[in-house]
Amino acid sequence: MNSLPPGPKGKLITGVMREFNRDTLGFITRCHREYGDVVRSRFLYVYAHFLYNPADIEALLTTNAKSYRKAQSLRSPFFHRLVGNGLVTSEGDFWRRQRRLAQPAFHRQRISSYGDIMVQYANRAIDKWQAGEQRDVARDMTRLTLEIVVKTLFNSDVSNEADHVGAILSEIVKPFASQATLKWIADNRLPTPGHRRYFNAVSEIDRIVFRIIAERRASGSDEGDLLSMLLQAQDEDGSQMSDSQLRDEVMTLFLAGHETTALALSWSWYLLATHPEAEKKFHAELDEVLGGRAPDVSDLPELRYTEMIAKETMRLYPPAYAIGREAIEDTELGGFRVPRKTQLFAFQWVTHRDPRFFERPDEFEPERWDSESIQRLPKYAYFPFGGGPRQCIGNYFAMMEIVLLLATIGQRFKFSMIEGHEVQVLPVLSLRPKNGIKVRLLQR
Ligand code: HEM
Repeated sequence: MNSLPPGPKGKLITGVMREFNRDTLGFITRCHREYGDVVRSRFLYVYAHFLYNPADIEALLTTNAKSYRKAQSLRSPFFHRLVGNGLVTSEGDFWRRQRRLAQPAFHRQRISSYGDIMVQYANRAIDKWQAGEQRDVARDMTRLTLEIVVKTLFNSDVSNEADHVGAILSEIVKPFASQATLKWIADNRLPTPGHRRYFNAVSEIDRIVFRIIAERRASGSDEGDLLSMLLQAQDEDGSQMSDSQLRDEVMTLFLAGHETTALALSWSWYLLATHPEAEKKFHAELDEVLGGRAPDVSDLPELRYTEMIAKETMRLYPPAYAIGREAIEDTELGGFRVPRKTQLFAFQWVTHRDPRFFERPDEFEPERWDSESIQRLPKYAYFPFGGGPRQCIGNYFAMMEIVLLLATIGQRFKFSMIEGHEVQVLPVLSLRPKNGIKVRLLQR
């Protein structure tokens, strides 16, 4: 029988919780350095294995995926209240059916038809921008991607409410600040003010989502979008999804479909603003390929450098910086024993910066994606969208949106960082800039 992996001892009761909480990214990086590719740690009474080797990550997500389900943190009542039994959280046959129903809406061809909306909404947003003004580009991107996901998947316009919805969503992610530490699982049993604010915020989002569903049911029209597909989907016995099941899927896509993409865009603007050489090449490509006209999906194959910027940004600042699973049986991974109920984590943040796989791993070098060495990259050395059966359903959607929005906005504006504004990474549910990304707009 294999042994258990090495790892930090931690404190008697809390284990590594404090250390993890204080500096999540530093802690998971140090664990790798000190203990190797598989590390065991304890959060209170819950054991976790951290996996840093691409081969082990592949086993977790793909080859041995049957031995695992989603991590415990995703099953808390807190999170459940938010996304219920939607695609991200559901399991087994139920998940398989939902995935089958949703999949066609995410096929490449289908997604291509969303390109015009993306460009149109981006132009509409930047029409209001003035050169010289100061903006938080992270906030702008969140608002824009929210409008786009609602329009493309549910053919509904929330532009009048987008700021309001954005504010509610930031309220919602607050309690997840220490999510993986399990601290909030205990917290959420107590009716603290933060707890109340959270549930109020979720109810408010519910109101908007149920409105979108009711409008569509009332109109009875087939808009050919995801919502129509989900509404029409039938079981063999003819039964259809209830409002609350629809709500779970809509809410899931609402959340999964915009924050991450907004973050990839925000970090891209930050990296471009701080890397003038890359910015110059980016502008040269836009001038050459588009020459001032708006992009569309047919330009995507030509916007190669722009795509490399997107990939390189998600290497350095992966919006999903960790993926978690739980062992549903005693098993083995990376040459070590995995007792049932162990939580297993793969960290994009660490593996994407591993010098074994990336030269000068901390440098922003979009060109690396065009190099020979990238051909030799192990499959799971770079996994911003996860992998295996639970791979992100929206990966094409996201890549297309990132490239089209970079190209649309980059044609008209560039950004310079506001002096004295320190950009800090905050790993909550996703990898956010703690105080936003404050920039000054410059006309191109
Ligand atoms: C840059 C943008 C995005 C990133 C980095 C990202 C990342 C991820 C990752 C890592 C997973 C796998 C989680 C796991 O295995 O536990 C995932 C799943 C998922 N994502 Fe994305 N995502 C992005 C954009 C989107 C978009 C645009 C949509 C929808 C419009 C979307 C919808 C989903 C859904 C529904 C799942 C669950 C799939 C399933 O389990 O069947 N994501 N995403």
